[in-house]
Amino acid sequence: MPSQPESGMQIAGTGIYLPSRIVTNHELEKLVETTDEWILTRTGIKERRISSKTETSTFMGVAAAKQALAQAKLAPSDLDLILVATVTPDSFFPSSACRISAELGATGCPAFDLQAACSGFVYGMIVADQFLRSGAARNILMVGTERLSSVVDWRDRNTCVLFGDGAGAVIVRQTVGSKGIISFDWGADGASADLLHLHNPQSRGLATQPPAPLAPDCIVMAGKEIFKQAVNAMADSAKRTLKKAGVKLDDVKCVISHQANIRIIDALVDKLKFPRERCFANVHRYGNMSAACIPVALHEAGSEMKLQKGDKVLLVAFGGGLTWASALLEW
Ligand SMILES: CC(C)(COP(=O)(O)OP(=O)(O)OC[C@H]1O[C@@H](n2cnc3c(N)ncnc32)[C@H](O)[C@@H]1OP(=O)(O)O)[C@@H](O)C(=O)NCCC(=O)NCCS
Repeated sequence: MPSQPESGMQIAGTGIYLPSRIVTNHELEKLVETTDEWILTRTGIKERRISSKTETSTFMGVAAAKQALAQAKLAPSDLDLILVATVTPDSFFPSSACRISAELGATGCPAFDLQAACSGFVYGMIVADQFLRSGAARNILMVGTERLSSVVDWRDRNTCVLFGDGAGAVIVRQTVGSKGIISFDWGADGASADLLHLHNPQSRGLATQPPAPLAPDCIVMAGKEIFKQAVNAMADSAKRTLKKAGVKLDDVKCVISHQANIRIIDALVDKLKFPRERCFANVHRYGNMSAACIPVALHEAGSEMKLQKGDKVLLVAFGGGLTWASALLEW
């Protein structure tokens, strides 16, 4: 009997939402003791988007999702699964996925959040790929949406200059004969959690007592250590993914990495010995948008990097947890 061609993943549509308010480094000079020059040389970031009161994680995720659905020429009722990666949900429950599903009118479609910090979207793509390959789903909406401005301490110059708000969405469709994700690698190291974390202030209250009102906790980060861990974990993960696929880096058209710091991206490509001009970067425009970085980059990289059907694209991410993930994708 002839073997059935394998089912895989194809990107059917992408969408983004970025708040219109642009906050430049010069504006931050008025807030904390910093300079445009320091931020630019240490991070590559020139500006970031900051949400208004109404631009919640759900609002931004819905806007990005609608754009992706339109591009894929799909209705919300065509979706078999909604996955949302975020560390800044509007509520612990309902999940952002349920909230986004309600706004889209995708009643009945299973929906859940997936949390792996800045690696969340690549984790999500790996999960989605399993559902598509098994035939359990044909059309999946994945959203990465973040409102990090609500969880940074705006008095802390070590962190507040690094992050931004935004959302990206991708529709992946089951396609017979298309490879989609050729290979992947993912992992986590909870023992190093303290290097980068955001506590839930509510969790400090005893279950039997109403928790005392607390100032919201903010992102805490050991910048230098995280820098080193990010470069090493992403480079090692990328190498494992390529090895599994038996693909050489020379055959990769484009690397799309998590957008935390241009120096991390530069160090990553140096370590991989990959040409810098074939590595996508938009960190100068948006800063670090955690789980939203990769879907926003996927939306922009298609045209900016002139990607063609069949090109091999390597996604690689790193985040709090610690977590890391990479996936080799056939465009
Ligand atoms: C945070 C980061 C940009 C700092 O860069 P760095 O090269 O490590 O910084 P340096 O150690 O050279 O400089 C630190 C000094 O700059 C100061 N500094 C920190 N932020 C500053 C700012 N916004 N403006 C001016 N000075 C600043 C510090 O207070 C420190 O001063 P000190 O030496 O007097 O104590 C860098 O470590 C980084 O990007 N880390 C990874 C962060 C990240 O990506 N997190 C998310 C991962 S998903």
